[in-house]
Amino acid sequence: MGCQYFAPTPDGADSFTVAMPRLTVGRGTLSEVGARTAALSVRRVALFTDPYLLDGPLVAIARKSLEDAGIEVVVFSDIRVEPDDESVSRGAAFLRDARCEAMVSVGGGSVIDAAKAALVLHRHGGNPIDYFAAPVGGGQAITGPLLPHVACPTTSGTGSECTSISVLRITSLNTKFVIAHPCLLPTIAIVDPQVCDSLPANAVASTGFDLCCHALECYTARAYTQHAKVASPNARQYIQGANPFSDIAAVEALKIVGEYLERGVNDATDTQARDQLMWGATLAGIAFGNSGTHLPHAMSYGVTHLMSDITTEGYPVKTPFVPHGISVIVNAPSIMAYTAQATPERHLEGARYLLADDKGATIDDAGEVLANRMVQLMKATDMPNGLSGIGFDESHIQALASSSMRQGRAIANAPRDSNQVDLENMYRNALSYW
Ligand SMILES: [Fe+2]
Repeated sequence: MGCQYFAPTPDGADSFTVAMPRLTVGRGTLSEVGARTAALSVRRVALFTDPYLLDGPLVAIARKSLEDAGIEVVVFSDIRVEPDDESVSRGAAFLRDARCEAMVSVGGGSVIDAAKAALVLHRHGGNPIDYFAAPVGGGQAITGPLLPHVACPTTSGTGSECTSISVLRITSLNTKFVIAHPCLLPTIAIVDPQVCDSLPANAVASTGFDLCCHALECYTARAYTQHAKVASPNARQYIQGANPFSDIAAVEALKIVGEYLERGVNDATDTQARDQLMWGATLAGIAFGNSGTHLPHAMSYGVTHLMSDITTEGYPVKTPFVPHGISVIVNAPSIMAYTAQATPERHLEGARYLLADDKGATIDDAGEVLANRMVQLMKATDMPNGLSGIGFDESHIQALASSSMRQGRAIANAPRDSNQVDLENMYRNALSYW
């Protein structure tokens, strides 16, 4: 299957690029951050975190480790969950005033993404929107290198420590967009599963479905050979499509979700499951950082744009708020049923890695088998029942589709083409699953 999926096409790409940070994985490794950072020959760092972690044990461990290594630390924590352009601009101003030689981020994807974007503004000035692709943003060029960045994730989902992408909310547009450039890739990633021991079940679930969709979208993405050849090697986007490298990481991450997601969510003492989910999140980050996601992520942007009057228990954020992983998974079963028609083998294989019950299934059942397994996992982990579970109904469908149609590059990375009407139909089929 693998070789055949990457069969050459007349005008398609015939090469792909792989990038990842120097990666350390293991319990207790957060305390290595000082030694790792000192090896970069820096004496003064900015430690970016959020207000909820600021006075907690994880920031204390990182700070002590840095100070024990003889590094001066200045802390910035004014970053909101699902970071906005204002958080980033404040962070960039802090970096300029603090005259730091490196960045250390300790937090979830929100903190790491804000740190990446602040490093861009620190070097090039301006506002985050200047760096989004046109027509939403100014398409301003980013050149490297930025300051070295040591990323220490505290959740098992986004994989941001291994990607060259920063996802930000633009307050004036009330929606999220992506800044992507190879120089946003952290220099070092330190993945310590111990930091997730105290995560509440709903956070493990929402980040776990983010990881699930990263892996599934990578594995089912359009093959890199079906993307156009680039004129310059440096012009290749991280959204380059499925490739043999992203396959390796995505398959392993899917197997981890299949075996450990329910266990890790429903039993906080199941260290084995939670450690595996942390490893799976990193693998899925490596995968999508080298292939790109597609429709489930593209269509989550419409959800976060148009959500209203909804809060999520356990997240100290003002309404409206839906965690990223939930905004992705609510549509994913419906989307996979749609995209399976283009590449049913890949969808059926994905379902099998997730441990779907495929007894008697044929290739024609691929979409249904995969969607059913995802819905089964959602039910077992107390996820909302599709879009209706987070406050949407038929009257929102057209606006959801119009909003998400702006994510052109991700939509084009799906294995099957789609237009406004197709997106509307996928949203409609995602209203409820049970
Ligand atoms: Fe994601």
